[in-house]
Amino acid sequence: MKKRKIWIDCDPGIDDAVALAMVAASQDRLHVLGISTVSGNQTIDRVTENALKLSAFLSLNVPIVRGADCPLLRPLEIAGDIHGDTGLGNCRLPETQKKPEDENGLLFMRNTIMHLPAGEKVTLVPTGPLTNIALLFKVFPEVKERVEQIVLMGGSAGGGNVTPYAEFNIWVDPEAASLVFKCGLPIVMCGLDVTMQSGLNHRQVKKLLSSSHPVQHAYGEMLSFYLGTTISENRQLVCIHDAVTILFLTNPELFRGIYAEICIDCSEEHRGQTILRPVSPEELSRISAPVYMLNKTELPKFQEILLQKLCSLA
Ligand code: BDR
Ligand code: CA
Repeated sequence: MKKRKIWIDCDPGIDDAVALAMVAASQDRLHVLGISTVSGNQTIDRVTENALKLSAFLSLNVPIVRGADCPLLRPLEIAGDIHGDTGLGNCRLPETQKKPEDENGLLFMRNTIMHLPAGEKVTLVPTGPLTNIALLFKVFPEVKERVEQIVLMGGSAGGGNVTPYAEFNIWVDPEAASLVFKCGLPIVMCGLDVTMQSGLNHRQVKKLLSSSHPVQHAYGEMLSFYLGTTISENRQLVCIHDAVTILFLTNPELFRGIYAEICIDCSEEHRGQTILRPVSPEELSRISAPVYMLNKTELPKFQEILLQKLCSLA
C-alpha cells in the first residue's frame, strides 16, 4: 500500500504527544515528512523541546523545525493549567541530543513539500494554533498546489473550551485560522464536536499508569495529569483531541461528519468562534472547498485502536 505523506504541525501538549505516538505506530501507513512546532499549549521553547524528546522516545526519526513563537497579531496565551509547566503533565521524558533543523522553519517546510516527486502531495496535520500554516501559505503560496488536504484539530460547532464560543487552537490565533479556513484547500475539521467524544476513561488511564512498559507508563503519567485538572471534573472521558486527526487518517471508519462552510470570528466579543453553515448534498458540487466537519466517534473502537497502537510501541 502506498503511504500517505504527512507533515505534522503541533504544540506538545499532552494530547499532541498522543497524536505523535499514533503517528509513530502508524508508519506502515503514513510517511511523516517532518514536524513543525508552534507556540500554543506552552512557549515555543518548551513545545520544541517536547517535540524533540518525544520523537527520540518514540523513535520517530524525522526532521523537526521550530515555528512561530507567537500568534500573527496577538500576544501568546498558553494553557499551562491543562498541560502543566513543561507541557507534558507529570511526565519527565529522557533527555535527547536531537536538535531542530538549522534552516528557517517555514523555508524548510516549503522546500520539503516543493521537492516532493512530481505529482505527489502532502497532507498537513495541524494540532495547535494555525500560525505556521497561515504564514506558510502567505509567504510561499506555491505550496498550496502541493497540499492534498488539511486534517486539523480545532474549532467547534457547539460551545467552546476557552470561552463559551471558542475552542483553544482557534482562539489563540483566530486571524491565522481565518486565513487557513479561507485557503480553498479541502479541510477536515476535527473540532470539539468529535474530540469531546474521543478519549479514554479513567480506568484505562490508570491502567496505563500502572504499566511497567515504558511507553505506556509515560503516557499514563501524561494523561493522569488531566485527571487532576478542571477539564476532567465530572467527566467520564479524558478527551484526547489531537489524536483524532491521526486516527481519522488511519481509520476513517471510526468517525462520521457533515459538510459545512466555516468562517472564523475575529472580533473581541466572539474571538475564535467557528461559525458554521451546513452544506446540503445538493449544494456540495457548487461549493469550491467545503469543510468536512467530524461530529461522531465510534468510542469503543476508537479506544481499542488507540490503546493497541500505544501498546505496539517498543
Ligand atoms: C486543543 O487545545 C490544546 O490544549 C490541545 O492540545 C488541543 O490541540 C483542544 O482544544
Ligand atoms: Ca494541540
